[in-house]
Amino acid sequence: MFVVLLIFVVTLLYVLYKRTFEYWKRRNVPGPEPTFLVGHIGESFLGKKSLGNCFFEIYKEYKDYPFVGVYKSVTPCLLVRDPEFLKCIYVKNFKSFMNNEMFVDKKVDPVMGRNPFFSKDQAWKETRALLTPNFTTGKMKTIFTLLDNVSQKAVSYVNKQIDSGVNCLEAKNLCTKITLENVASCAFGLEANCFNDPNCDFQDIANKFLSPEKWQSLKIFVSMIIPSLMKVLSIRFISKEVAERLRKIVFDTVDYREKNNVQRPDFLQSMMQLKDSTKDFDPEDMVAHAASFFGDGYETSSIVMSFLLYEIAKHPEVQDKLRQEINDTMDGNGGKLTYDVIMEMEYLDACLNGKISKNPFVESLSKRCTEKFSYKPANTSEFKDIDVTVDVGTVMVIPVKGLFLDPKYFDEPDKFIPARFLKENRKNDRSQGVFRPFGDGPRVCIGQKFGLLQIKAAVAHIIRAFSVSVNSKTKEPLEFDPWYLMLSPIGGLWLDFHKIK
Ligand code: HEM
Repeated sequence: MFVVLLIFVVTLLYVLYKRTFEYWKRRNVPGPEPTFLVGHIGESFLGKKSLGNCFFEIYKEYKDYPFVGVYKSVTPCLLVRDPEFLKCIYVKNFKSFMNNEMFVDKKVDPVMGRNPFFSKDQAWKETRALLTPNFTTGKMKTIFTLLDNVSQKAVSYVNKQIDSGVNCLEAKNLCTKITLENVASCAFGLEANCFNDPNCDFQDIANKFLSPEKWQSLKIFVSMIIPSLMKVLSIRFISKEVAERLRKIVFDTVDYREKNNVQRPDFLQSMMQLKDSTKDFDPEDMVAHAASFFGDGYETSSIVMSFLLYEIAKHPEVQDKLRQEINDTMDGNGGKLTYDVIMEMEYLDACLNGKISKNPFVESLSKRCTEKFSYKPANTSEFKDIDVTVDVGTVMVIPVKGLFLDPKYFDEPDKFIPARFLKENRKNDRSQGVFRPFGDGPRVCIGQKFGLLQIKAAVAHIIRAFSVSVNSKTKEPLEFDPWYLMLSPIGGLWLDFHKIK
C-alpha cells in the first residue's frame, strides 16, 4: 500500500513539475533550468539575494536575448531585455500590459486597495484620472513653499545637532524626518514635529507603515512571490491599527477645517473637494487617498535623498561643483529657493539621475499581460531572432537594475558620474528608452514631480549650509537588506556634517 502511495505521489509531483516548469520550453523561449518549487528565486527565499538581484543575474547571463523565460517560484514570467519590447509594454501597446502584477482588494485593505499602484482595469483608470490633477506643475508650484519651509527646518535641525556636539547623522533617518514633514504638511496640512520629537505620531505611524511585525512581513513577502495569496489569506499591507490612526488624523483635520472654514493649497483640500463634488467618492476614498499619499510620498523619496547625500559626500569634486551651482542660482535670487530656481539647477538634476542610475531603488517591476501580444525583434536588432506570444495573465518582469547597470547603455554604469546626465553629454545617449526611473506611459509614477522636488529642495539647502563626508560607521562596500521591499543599506548611511562658514 505504502509503495503504491509513494509511486502515486512521485508521479503526481513529476506531472506537476513538467506542467509548471516546462511552460517556457513548450513555447521555445530560452531560459535557465528552474529548481523545483522555488524556480529562479531560491536565493531570495533564503534571504541571500533580493528578488531584483535574482533577476539581475539572469539579465546578465542572457545578454544576446530579447527576453528570457523565468519562474518566480511556480509562476512563469517573461523577463524583458529588449528596449523596443519595453517600449511596447510601457507605451505603444499599453492596453496589453495595463495592470501591475500585484493587486490589492479594497475590501481587505481599504487603504492600499485604493492606491493606483495596486488597482487594476477600470478602477485604476478612474482613480488615476481623479488623482492626476493633484500632481500638475501648477500644483507643485503652489506647494513649493511648504517644501522649502521644511528644508529650512532641516538645516536648523542639523545646526542644532552640531551645536550640541553631534556631527555624525544617519542619512536615511534625517531624510525620513524631512519627507515625513513634507507629506504631513502637503497631505494633511499638519506639522509632524519629527525634528523636535523622534517619537512623534507620524514617525511612529511610519515605523509601523513599512516595517510591520515579523509575521506580517513574511506574509507580504510570500504574497509578492504569489500575489494571488493576498486575497486568499486576507493579507493587508497596512495594518488595521495604522489605517485607524490615519483615518482619525484625516477626519479630525477635515472636521477642524470644515468648522473653522480653513482653506489650504494641499492634497487633503483637493480630496475634500472631490468628496463634495464627485458621485461615488465617499469619505473612505478621501481617507485612503490621503493615507496613500503619505505612504507613497515619504519612503521612496527619503531612500533616494539619503543615497544622493551619500554619493555627494563620497565625491568631494561633485560636491564642490554642486555647491557652486546652488550658491550661484540662489544668490542670483536674493538667497531664496523657489520652484523656478530649483528648475534652473541642471547639475543638481544630473546628480540625482546619477544616483538613481547607479542604485535604482526599485530593482525590478512586474506587469501583467491584459491582452494577447506577440513580439519579434526587428531585423536590424542586435538581439537573437526569436519570437514569443504572451497570453493574458502572464507576468512580465522589467529588470530595472539589469538595464541601468548594463555597460551597453552606460560606460562604467556602477560609478556615480553625474556629468553623463548633462544636456550637452546626452546627444549620443545610448540609454534613451532604457533609463526610466519613474516608469513610463500612462502608469508612469504619478508623484514623480513631487518626489523630485522634495529631494532637490532639501539637498540644495543642506549642501549650501554644510559640507558632508562619509563617516567610518558606514559599512562599505554597502550591502543591502534582501528582505526589504526597496533599497535598504545594512547598518545605515552615516555622514559627517560641518557648517560652511
Ligand atoms: C524619487 C522618488 C520616486 C521614485 C523613484 C518612484 C518610482 C516609481 C516607479 C518606478 C513606479 C512604477 C511605474 C510603472 O509601473 O511603470 C511608480 C509608481 C507610482 N508612484 Fe512613484 N516614485 C517616487 C516617488 C513617488 C511619490 C512622492 C509619490 C506620491 C506622492 C509616488 C506615487 C506613485 C504611485 C501612486 C504609483 C502608481 C502609479 C500607477 O500605477 O498609476 N511615487 N513610482
